[in-house]
Amino acid sequence: MTTPWWQSSVIYQIYPRSFQDANGDGIGDLKGITQRLDYLGGLGIDAIWISPIYPSPMADFGYDVADHCDVDPRFGTLADFDELLAQAHARGLKVLLDFVPNHTSDRHAWFAESRSSRDAAKRDWYLWCDPAPNGGPPNNWISDFGGSAWAWDETSGQYYYHAFLKEQPDLNWRNPAVQAAMYEVMRFWFDRGVDGFRIDVLWHLIKAADFPDNPPNPAYRPAMGEMHRVLQLHSTDQPEVHALAAEMRAIADSYGIAGLCERVLLGEIYLPIDPLMHYYGQEHAGVHLPLNFLLIDAPWQAGALADLIAGYEAALPPAAWPNWVLGNHDRPRIARKLGEAKARIAAMLLLTLRGTPTLYYGDELGLNDAKIPPSQVQDPRELREPGLGLGRDPVRSPMPWDGSENAGFSTAPPWLPLNADCHLRNVAEMTGERASILALYRRLLAVRRAHPALAIGAFALLDSAGDVLAYERRHGTQRLIVALNLGTDAQRLELPDWASGCRLLLSTTAEALLIENNMLLLRADEGGVLAA
Ligand code: GLC
Ligand code: CA
Repeated sequence: MTTPWWQSSVIYQIYPRSFQDANGDGIGDLKGITQRLDYLGGLGIDAIWISPIYPSPMADFGYDVADHCDVDPRFGTLADFDELLAQAHARGLKVLLDFVPNHTSDRHAWFAESRSSRDAAKRDWYLWCDPAPNGGPPNNWISDFGGSAWAWDETSGQYYYHAFLKEQPDLNWRNPAVQAAMYEVMRFWFDRGVDGFRIDVLWHLIKAADFPDNPPNPAYRPAMGEMHRVLQLHSTDQPEVHALAAEMRAIADSYGIAGLCERVLLGEIYLPIDPLMHYYGQEHAGVHLPLNFLLIDAPWQAGALADLIAGYEAALPPAAWPNWVLGNHDRPRIARKLGEAKARIAAMLLLTLRGTPTLYYGDELGLNDAKIPPSQVQDPRELREPGLGLGRDPVRSPMPWDGSENAGFSTAPPWLPLNADCHLRNVAEMTGERASILALYRRLLAVRRAHPALAIGAFALLDSAGDVLAYERRHGTQRLIVALNLGTDAQRLELPDWASGCRLLLSTTAEALLIENNMLLLRADEGGVLAA
């Protein structure tokens, strides 16, 4: 049995506004991505996932889609997309798009029709409700971006539901016509040749039919953001969502020829482990990879991480393949959470765990959250609930490519400020430095590619003490040890007998790891991959 490509792959997430601007308007675009494909190929990743590129009023920077089957002129044209796809495929890179099925833009033609009157043909394509008896919103559901999730529509005298901005009305996925229309969208892109989708907020698609109030969240504190005032018991993760995921999977599968050109589905799902596992579906009929965000919020402590990884592995359905994530366009950068030294260990962890990692653009440079002056805030989340640290602009700063003006991202001032250290922390500068985190990422990706034990092998934790997290990756006779010192003091790891005489494949530092008898000595923030 051959391993499907998506299991042995590393997926690189591109936020298209911020990757490379090719036409000098300060906003990244498709031609820019195409120009940088050689960089991506050389880095050693296997697939790119591009956040939304569709026509959009950009109220939520593309996650408010006005037409699912076209490209926003800011990003280019369908022809530019075809060219990007062809160029990526020519380099052996797969291309995933972001599928945003839960909601559309309020400027989508479907919504315009739906809101035109109560008898509109597409009225039932969205979630319309009469006011509560007091005239207020139908229930207590809260938007993820704060405030009631119901918007009043004066013309037709009803409320519509929006889990995010009021400019992002939720579709009614109980309506078969909506399902059919959105499945057509998937086919449109699959027919064009895309290799898969990351599915936006998959667990949101279905809401409880009678819209009951959500229960209050006893742990709520205002600093968490208003959405956490209630638990999203009835507004998300309803049992009927799994049939929809299965339908999407069937469409993806219908494009695979004998396992060769399989199309992959990644599901964005922020849920605890048990409900998350259901998104693999009965008999693997769900998405291939429910995204696993556990590492993002995990305490950086060896015992806690070992428990978390073991817990995740143990919870997986038989033969289910895991995914691991350190960062994305919604969450603080890993380097902001840990600092650069520990971000290097995190890189080794991400690329040596069992599963398909998704790597967020710029994390390979150790980018920190950028400072965004209040006057330059763009993210609607920050604008609606300022000062809580929920804003996402800091993790969407332009990719710094070189030491030239605007860091080679654009000839014009970029749409968001660059990171302050971009004259030093950029691709050109760090490519020349053997000890840079970029060089480490390149070595990690190369070692992973050269060792099936890392890409597809079995995983087992090793006994370790103190701040050391250690595990074995094994494929056939190939046995590797990954040892990570998460602490700031030197640590020892007693190597198992089978590892005697092991050699170092790669370390996070420039220096060789010290092995004395059967003891591995790890300096502060040092990690290594060893071959037995
Ligand atoms: C997802 C996206 C996020 C967006 C939201 C609404 O969580 O990752 O960026 O704001 O969906 O579409
Ligand atoms: Ca541009």
